[in-house]
Amino acid sequence: MLIHSANQILTLAGGPQKGARLGRLGILEDGAIYIEDGRIAAVGPSGELRRRYAGAPEVDAIGRVALPGFVDPHTHVIWAGDRAAEFELRLEGKAYLEILAAGGGILSTVRATRRASPDDLIEQTRARLRRMLQHGTTTVEAKTGYGLDQETELKMLAVLLALAQEGPWELAITYLAAHAVPPEYENRSDEYAQEIATRWLPQLVPWWREHAAGQSLPFVDVFCETGAFTVAQTEGILQAAKDLGFQLKVHSDEFDNLGGTRLAAGLGAVSADHLVAASDDDIRALVASGTVAVALPGTPFGLGLPGYAPAGRILAAGGTLALASDLNPGTSWCENMQMAIALACRSMKLTPAQAIAAATINAAAAIGWQDRVGSLEIGKQADILLLDVPDYRHLGYRYGVNLVGTVIKRGQIVFEA
Ligand code: NIG
Ligand code: FE
Repeated sequence: MLIHSANQILTLAGGPQKGARLGRLGILEDGAIYIEDGRIAAVGPSGELRRRYAGAPEVDAIGRVALPGFVDPHTHVIWAGDRAAEFELRLEGKAYLEILAAGGGILSTVRATRRASPDDLIEQTRARLRRMLQHGTTTVEAKTGYGLDQETELKMLAVLLALAQEGPWELAITYLAAHAVPPEYENRSDEYAQEIATRWLPQLVPWWREHAAGQSLPFVDVFCETGAFTVAQTEGILQAAKDLGFQLKVHSDEFDNLGGTRLAAGLGAVSADHLVAASDDDIRALVASGTVAVALPGTPFGLGLPGYAPAGRILAAGGTLALASDLNPGTSWCENMQMAIALACRSMKLTPAQAIAAATINAAAAIGWQDRVGSLEIGKQADILLLDVPDYRHLGYRYGVNLVGTVIKRGQIVFEA
């Protein structure tokens, strides 16, 4: 298939973009992309590629912008129920961590998710993945974390593996049993952290081998926060995970600075996510370890809070900044990375070019997939969006509507507006 005559092709060529290099879109005007066996076989001027590949089925992208499919590197896409009543409570003045401490918040989604059948979870999650795809997200990081018992955590993993198999989306799966302290372990959070580190993680290795034939192990993530897990507990879990061969992620500095970011950097985590309260020392540690900083602007927006991740300081220090939706029923129910981009432009002061790079090639780096997705270069997967806009800056500038006209995943058209 040959896509040709695009107003602009944003190639994002050249790998993840650190610090001041963020925002190199690699723009090709009147460009074309030739796709073979689901991969990109050529990128270049339309005239030349149309001659070279005469006879190939053509997609006319005249007046449109082509770019890599969005990678959403932080989502809690699988859950049951909703938290509409809690949204109202928060608007009336109750804080997010207050609601969690009272047994609501994450724990109310845990109750609903434990009750849900695998079929129910598949159906609800598939609908969200489809909505994500329609808004241009072709690769999704997906966390468990609404089970908080091994049985339900594994039920969630099995559903995610089934949905990954089904496609057309691809999923990078994360095990987040350390998302909150379940009611069974109330006031015994040390014991719960121990249980994960010494029993559940070792059990997960053979389970994964049996159920996810051939796929590398999932990520292990911990919510390091007041009312969730302390730095010491986080360290116990992440160190055990690392020793077992898992790659690491962390939720840190969403509300309070406990030191989770520095800890994760020290352990060589692939990403540290949220970072609203991260200090300059934390940021330096991330840069030193090459850990990707994932900002989730939908979360403070969803909570109606004023603080956003300090993008300017992260970039000034030379950090690799990525954007994600944090899709979840509590803080940010939004399937749309275009919204994350629009928020990042306003609240984190990114330019559209910076936000686009953060949502594609750098987001791919946040799940370790930068060699497969996130840019339009020869040999990479043909995950391509055609936007119904004449100029890339319409991303960020416009919001609240879907600008995606066509979504191509591994060389197949999977959505057309
Ligand atoms: O990233 N902070 C922890 N986890 C999610 C929220 C999950 C929830 O509230 O259900 C987050 O914001
Ligand atoms: Fe999260």
